[in-house]
Amino acid sequence: MRAVVLLSGRGSNFEALLAARLPLQYPLVLSNNPEARGIDLARRHGIPATVLNHREFSDRAAFDAALAAEIDRHAPDLVILAGFMRVLGEGFVRRYHGRMLNIHPSLLPMFPGLHTHRRAIEAGVRVHGCTVHFVTPEVDGGPIIVQAAVPVLPDDDEERLAARVLAQEHRIYPLAVRWFAEGRLRLDASGRAVLNDWPWAAQDCLISPPAALPQAG
Ligand code: GRF
Repeated sequence: MRAVVLLSGRGSNFEALLAARLPLQYPLVLSNNPEARGIDLARRHGIPATVLNHREFSDRAAFDAALAAEIDRHAPDLVILAGFMRVLGEGFVRRYHGRMLNIHPSLLPMFPGLHTHRRAIEAGVRVHGCTVHFVTPEVDGGPIIVQAAVPVLPDDDEERLAARVLAQEHRIYPLAVRWFAEGRLRLDASGRAVLNDWPWAAQDCLISPPAALPQAG
């Protein structure tokens, strides 16, 4: 299976995918940002990487068309958004229906969009996390595949909370991509993410704050 990766920045999720040694080939990494660390990362791993700078296009449609042309040259089975910070137009998204994944740093449908960690702290939620989902035209609104939850601690700032969530992103994105690569995950006709052989095992739930607090002293 062939996966094209789109990214805009540091590329730590892409790095986690590489580290997971998934049954995938990466014919191309594409970035809209010439400064993206993810570009260097790809090249260090011998993966071809290209920049398509959105600033050089007159509008979103022109950028999307160029992006799609570049992606299609590599005939991918899967398109992986790994911190790709451009909103994609409806035509582009429909072209890759059922074969484009994204990771978002919140427990969707809470906190779509930007600044999710700050917004979680401001909202006072006790549980926050991350979500891998199929991409549909509604930004951060596609069918959910897998989520991981973390507690929000009383002295958290945006940075600490982001780091706690990111560690989980690095676990669940490889998981979801592996399911897809193994043919166990698909988007069905009713728009639901369906996972064959649901890997159910009795697990503790995350309750935050926990019922039994540590005894003082
Ligand atoms: C991650 O928090 C991801 O959830 C969001 O953008 C960030 C990308 O980080 N979509 P990285 O480039 O993968 O390190």
